[in-house]
Parts: sequence; C-alpha cells; structure tokens
Amino acid sequence: FGRQLHLRDEVDSTQIVAQQLTAAGAPEGAVVLAELQTAGRGRMGRRWHSPKGKGLWFSLILRPDWLPLSQTPQLTLLTAVSLCRAVRQVTGLDAGIKWPNDLLIDGRKVAGILLEANVENGTLQHVVAGIGISVNLTEDDYPPDIRAIATSLAIAAGRRIDRSLLFVELLAEWERLYALYRSEGFAPIKLLWEALTVSLGREIVCRMPQETVEGFAEAIDEQGALLVRLNDGSVRKMFSGDVEFR
Ligand code: BTN
Repeated sequence: FGRQLHLRDEVDSTQIVAQQLTAAGAPEGAVVLAELQTAGRGRMGRRWHSPKGKGLWFSLILRPDWLPLSQTPQLTLLTAVSLCRAVRQVTGLDAGIKWPNDLLIDGRKVAGILLEANVENGTLQHVVAGIGISVNLTEDDYPPDIRAIATSLAIAAGRRIDRSLLFVELLAEWERLYALYRSEGFAPIKLLWEALTVSLGREIVCRMPQETVEGFAEAIDEQGALLVRLNDGSVRKMFSGDVEFR
C-alpha cells in the first residue's frame, strides 16, 4: 500500500480525490495524502476537522472484487485493527478500538475511519478507505464543541509524534493484514480486533439515523456486525451507528 502516493497540499477531501483517481484507473493500494482538507468528511454527514500539517489525512483505494458484498463491514474492522496496532507501536500509547471505527485514547477520540464502497449490479467494485489521525494537534486546535471528546497523539503522549513514521508503519501493517485476510479469511482479524477493542462487555447506546438501540455489547459476529443484547433478552445485529457507553 502507498507505492502509488499522491501528495497534495490542500484538497476539499482526500475521499473525493481518491474517488476521481479510482475512476481514472488508479490501482489497489494507491493513496492520497493531504496536508490540509477544507471539507474533510466524517461519518454520518459530519465534518472532519483537518488543520494543516497537524494530522494524517489520507484515503486508500481498495479493489476487493473477490469479497462478497455482505462481508464489507469486515474491512472496517480490519482497517481499525491496522490503525490501532500502528498507533500503539509508534507511540506506545494504550489506544483502543471503539466499534465500529473510532480509535480512542483515555476515552477520547484520536482517529476516525470512513469507508465508502462503490457497488454495481450487486457486486463490490472498489472501496475508498479514509483515515484521519489527529497527530500533533494541541488543545487550542480544536473547536470548543469537540475539545472535550477529542484528543491527539501528541496531547496523549506529551510529545510530538513523527507523522512519516506512523504513516509508513500504518500502511505496512494494513497491507500485511489485508493479505492475511485474503488468504485466511476474517477469523484472525476478528481475534486481533477482540484483543484491541474497548466496546465489548459494556452497556451501550447505539444511535442510527432512524433508530436508537440500548443494550449490552456482547460480541462481534463472523460478518463483523456488533451483537447487542436488549433488555428483553433478544439479540440485535448492528452494522453501523454511533456508540455511547453508559
Ligand atoms: C469519522 O470518524 O467520522 C471518520 C473520519 C474520517 C476522516 C478522514 S480524513 C481523510 C479522509 N478524507 C475525508 O474527507 N475523510 C477521511
């Protein structure tokens, strides 16, 4: 991953640039990295704060045409595992994965993942996987409304973090796990994810655009969905949503 690297000073969103490159035939593993995003995208239509030079804001092109559509959620978990492992390795910080795709340190969000899949005639064509890591932001860099819930690697570590080192480590880790996933399937990724998550075994509230579900986060299943036990004893399968711990 990253052998074809598109470096940009300023873009609206690396997701948009990556979609354009995909349409122009960019290969699997191509990456767009920007110093600054003026319209960084978060999940659920939110914005992603991406100030200049302070983070890693990038998108990777995947072409998993061998993957059944129903298994796409697994790619999110795979990405989160790669991210978590790379961050731990480079910073020594105790980072954990919050289902489906946030990276937390000290209970605050330090990185997010946005996967956009393109599907044609019921088959997966390509996926643009965006990662935003708040690396060297200081408290002052955050808008007041997110200061309390967000952190950066530098804030958590108390020192500047080398962005290049982290970027290289993350791409290597991701490529390795992707190859493992392709040859061995989801089982080894699931084990790694379970070891790194902070979401299981807790009472949660999961908010989706249409509905809110409350219950106990029991496990993830073979598809990568979160299994939530409700008060009435039944189990709900969740594929996405915003989780809050109770
Ligand atoms: C989230 O947690 O809501 C996901 C945030 C994803 C942000 C990254 S930054 C690089 C890529 N380009 C974007 O516009 N968004 C993703």
